[in-house]
Amino acid sequence: MLRGSKIGLRARHEDDVPILQAELHDDVVNASRAEGGPWRPITHGSKDAPFVVDDKEQKHVSFSVVELDGGTLIGSANLWGIDNHNRFAHIGLGLLPPARGKGYGTDAVAVLCHYGFVVRGLHRLQIETLSDNAAMLRSAERNGFVREGVLRSSAWVMGEFLDEVLLGLLVKDWKPDSEG
Ligand SMILES: CC(C)(COP(=O)(O)OP(=O)(O)OC[C@H]1O[C@@H](n2cnc3c(N)ncnc32)[C@H](O)[C@@H]1OP(=O)(O)O)[C@@H](O)C(=O)NCCC(=O)NCCS
Repeated sequence: MLRGSKIGLRARHEDDVPILQAELHDDVVNASRAEGGPWRPITHGSKDAPFVVDDKEQKHVSFSVVELDGGTLIGSANLWGIDNHNRFAHIGLGLLPPARGKGYGTDAVAVLCHYGFVVRGLHRLQIETLSDNAAMLRSAERNGFVREGVLRSSAWVMGEFLDEVLLGLLVKDWKPDSEG
């Protein structure tokens, strides 16, 4: 397990999947905002369910987020689109509703940076998030990510086009204990 100050990132357990699906994917608004595609209902127990991990997929690493104190499951975190030539990857993160707003997201981004930069030797990490997602923007910026641009009307979400913000962090600018 990778440890931050409040959360840990561990492998996905089989019994995490239905909880993550019920709390994150089955919430149509949350999933439409976070998943970057059209929401559709997915049968629980399906091998194609969104939080089922394919360990053979080299471009994607999935973690479950747990509270360090007690080990309760609080969300899902991943590095996706891992590009070992250009040495960059994207960060994805979703916390269960009761776990939001407690500093866990900021800590999870810090641990994902440690994994990306130290364990994987990446050079750049990036995050794309909706421009009104204050908690995600702040979680990224507190870890040193900078806003590199606005992708205007790039996301079709529940009946309207929304802007996304692209944030990036280079390993040379990364301060492991950054509090931005
Ligand atoms: C986005 C998310 C991962 C952030 O994690 P979090 O644990 O809620 O965020 P934190 O508690 O670490 O807060 C980070 C900062 O945002 C602020 N913040 C938290 N929730 C906020 C809200 N609803 N509105 C405005 N600011 C908020 C905090 O005050 C904190 O700011 P500070 O560091 O200046 O004090 C989490 O809220 C989440 O999973 N949301 C739903 C899914 C999602 O949006 N995923 C991202 C898709 S790209």
